[in-house]
Amino acid sequence: MGDPAGIKRQYRQFAETECKGYSDLYYRLALSVSEDDEVAGFIADMPVPQPNLFLASIQMLTGPAAMPATGSELRAFVRRRGDEVHAVMGTRRTQTNEVGRCAVLLPGLPPGPVALVEVGASAGLCLLFERYHYEFGSTRLGAASSRVRLQCTATGPVPLPPTVPRIVWRRGLDVRPIDVHDDEAVRWLLACVWPEHHERRRRLEAAIDAARTDPPVVRAGDLVDDLPGLLAEAPADGQLVVFHSAALSYVSRERRQAFADVLAHASKRRDLIWLANEATGVVPELPAAAPSGSLRFLVARMHFANGQRRSELLALAHPHGAALAWL
Ligand SMILES: C[S@@+](CC[C@H](N)C(=O)[O-])C[C@H]1O[C@@H](n2cnc3c(N)ncnc32)[C@H](O)[C@@H]1O
Repeated sequence: MGDPAGIKRQYRQFAETECKGYSDLYYRLALSVSEDDEVAGFIADMPVPQPNLFLASIQMLTGPAAMPATGSELRAFVRRRGDEVHAVMGTRRTQTNEVGRCAVLLPGLPPGPVALVEVGASAGLCLLFERYHYEFGSTRLGAASSRVRLQCTATGPVPLPPTVPRIVWRRGLDVRPIDVHDDEAVRWLLACVWPEHHERRRRLEAAIDAARTDPPVVRAGDLVDDLPGLLAEAPADGQLVVFHSAALSYVSRERRQAFADVLAHASKRRDLIWLANEATGVVPELPAAAPSGSLRFLVARMHFANGQRRSELLALAHPHGAALAWL
């Protein structure tokens, strides 16, 4: 059994920092957990008590429209269907594949040709940059006819490229790759989208449809142990870029450093770029920039050559890619 008092604190923090003003339902439910001994005790028994995982597991069972709406409904639901929630939480992990993040990563990509690797890729939807349409205010780029339309409010001197860089090769790496042809796995991806976020759900469905015609390759593997093998496969005719978003935070500090070491080591054979979009404080050796309002992710680009690293802090970003403030 975990520590219910710790769970209560964790859920209160999640409510206040991640849900407030962004999802009334999750704000209400997370806050109710922070005041409910019974539900907090239930969650404390789970192998991974993360708020997103708990709430996505309930949504997997109910669908977005029929989730418990209040703390008392949540407690009743856990009493009635706790075994099912336990089963989902025991077998799934948070795998939110958020294509909106392509908008905040795009300005950090070098001009093509690019050989692209994403670690923690989930279904690999963020590898498909050129299949989406981007709207940065009045500036439009990408696939004009795409049903995946990414709107991003940009401030500061964002160096928008004239076109999406040409990607000559791409691979994802994930401990649990999601196959876009697997209906249960897709249902889980959709359950990871917060219920009121209708536009996010609609564009995720469109991105999954687009991916089904020609899915990205996402290899099963660990972002440290299996990265060197994948990097060795990258063709020489593109600038090698390794990127991740909302993924490094899922591994320990030691593993984050080990990941950085793998990249430094690989750069003794060829230059590479590491592009990161993570909560501040996650990427080793970068300062934890003060988060500003809803812009809590830090986009950073590290150039590696011959084992040496040069880091650039590029921007603060909304966690789901809705806004970008260039530094
Ligand atoms: C929150 S999802 C983000 C997915 C995607 N990067 C995005 O931004 O849409 C985090 C992903 O990291 C993966 N992951 C967690 N630990 C990992 C590890 N040690 N090695 C590879 N992937 C990992 C999870 O399976 C999950 O698919």
